[in-house]
Amino acid sequence: MLKIQNLSKSFHNAHMGENKLFTNLNLNINKGDFVSIIGSNGTGKSTLLNIISGIVEETSGSILLQGKDITKMPEHKRTKIISRVFQDTNLGTCGSMTVRENLSLALNKGKLINFKYCLRYKTEYLEELLDGISLDLKKLLDVEVKYLSGGQRQALSLIMASICNPKVLLLDEHTAALDPKISNEVMKLTEKIVKEKNITTLMVTHNLKDAIQYGNRLIMLHRGEIILDLDVEEKKKITVEDILKKFEYAV
Ligand SMILES: Nc1ncnc2c1ncn2[C@@H]1O[C@H](COP(=O)(O)OP(=O)(O)OP(=O)(O)O)[C@@H](O)[C@H]1O
Ligand SMILES: [Mg+2]
Repeated sequence: MLKIQNLSKSFHNAHMGENKLFTNLNLNINKGDFVSIIGSNGTGKSTLLNIISGIVEETSGSILLQGKDITKMPEHKRTKIISRVFQDTNLGTCGSMTVRENLSLALNKGKLINFKYCLRYKTEYLEELLDGISLDLKKLLDVEVKYLSGGQRQALSLIMASICNPKVLLLDEHTAALDPKISNEVMKLTEKIVKEKNITTLMVTHNLKDAIQYGNRLIMLHRGEIILDLDVEEKKKITVEDILKKFEYAV
């Protein structure tokens, strides 16, 4: 469904010289896969997501989505089919707008319409979208998002990122800034959305427990290579300690 073919990426820095992140990386993601991606700091996880979403240009290689080559598709066009949630809780939502306004904008993503028309949704409809979502979001429709907690903002970011059924959802440490209890709630919400909507999802995380518990595939990146690629059955058998050993031995 999502194919990364012979991907190479180098960054050039006047002081540090060339930083070769990937050399001919190949990765095949199946439709509906929920893939956890782990790996040390600086190994290129965010860069990989940046290349998939078109924020960063690859040095060479190609990206195919449902058989279509999207390598040269500009970022603003890709946002309609590839959604993202970031670690920074301020990035996915607009703080000076209400939950209602944020949701309405997400429902009209990519459309050229006036703001009044954008806000046409009935309260009941918006409340329905937030049905069953913890963190009390349903009660906060007319509250400006800047007053929400980090967990509530991430939950809203997730809902907004998935509301128009993107083909791919990219999560870059989206629970890293949250306390363990809220992180757990946001992970449960992530799983619910991904399962219900069957969205192909790549989730970067440093939380090894979550990487094992959630999704149907686990990939470990190291120095630009995939050094571990576990399917759902293999993932059931692996422990956090096993993965920590992989980090220790990865040189
Ligand atoms: N725009 C850029 N220009 C130059 N170097 C960059 C740029 N973006 C990333 N890098 C470098 O590429 C390497 C990989 O960065 P990246 O952010 O992808 O790592 P990561 O695996 O996401 O790390 P972390 O776990 O800390 O988030 C780092 O050495 C980083 O400094
Ligand atoms: Mg990163």
